[in-house]
Amino acid sequence: MVYIRAMRKVLLPVILFLLQACAPDPTEHGVLSRSEQDKVLDHGASLADAAFAALSSTLQQAMAEGGPEHAVDFCNKTAWSLLDSLSVVHGARIRRTSDRPRSLANSPDQHERERLDEVLKHLEAGMGAAYLPAEAFVLGDSIAYYKPILIASPLCLKCHGKAGETLDGDALRVIRERYPQDAATGYALGEFRGLWSIRWPR
Ligand code: HEC
Repeated sequence: MVYIRAMRKVLLPVILFLLQACAPDPTEHGVLSRSEQDKVLDHGASLADAAFAALSSTLQQAMAEGGPEHAVDFCNKTAWSLLDSLSVVHGARIRRTSDRPRSLANSPDQHERERLDEVLKHLEAGMGAAYLPAEAFVLGDSIAYYKPILIASPLCLKCHGKAGETLDGDALRVIRERYPQDAATGYALGEFRGLWSIRWPR
């Protein structure tokens, strides 16, 4: 009996230590281990980059063909189907969201809202938008990946800039027609515009 009790005294801390050492390294991002976190961030970034490349090349083509007015119309019809087909190809749900959405369909869900609030807090505290990190979380049985989208070029301002300054007048007219609830104007170069929100099965 004494022997067993002594063993327990010695073994229990050892077992507890081993259990802790073997457990996935919990990070601030929930239960993703550090190595999984790295993989997930790489995968998310490659999906966001592919989606950005597809959207921006069609946008530039539409701008070249018929100016911002035509491009708004084009975006309105094409952005969704483009992201939808990319989602199917990559087995992930790829979308964009914002605290000031143009399209109501891009309004944040609950988790997206929490992430946006967190980003806004960082920005209010003085963090530069360019320093906002991409992040990944476990959400049920999925991975939720977020990457900040910035007003990265003067091109964005033609449709998201300040009325009477950088915002294109013709584009604004079509935007008002198509998106009566638009909240996505008034931006300056380099500002935070929204998040890529990408989810895939874990
Ligand atoms: C020709 C006009 C035009 C230009 C240029 C443009 N956008 Fe947009 N943007 C739109 C339209 C229209 C939507 C709504 C698309 C939809 O219906 O999903 C939109 C939606 C978005 C959204 C999704 C969230 C929301 O507000 O609905 C983000 C993020 C975004 N734009 C960022 C950018 C960035 C960054 C650039 C520059 C690289 C850019 N846009 C350039 C017209 C434009």
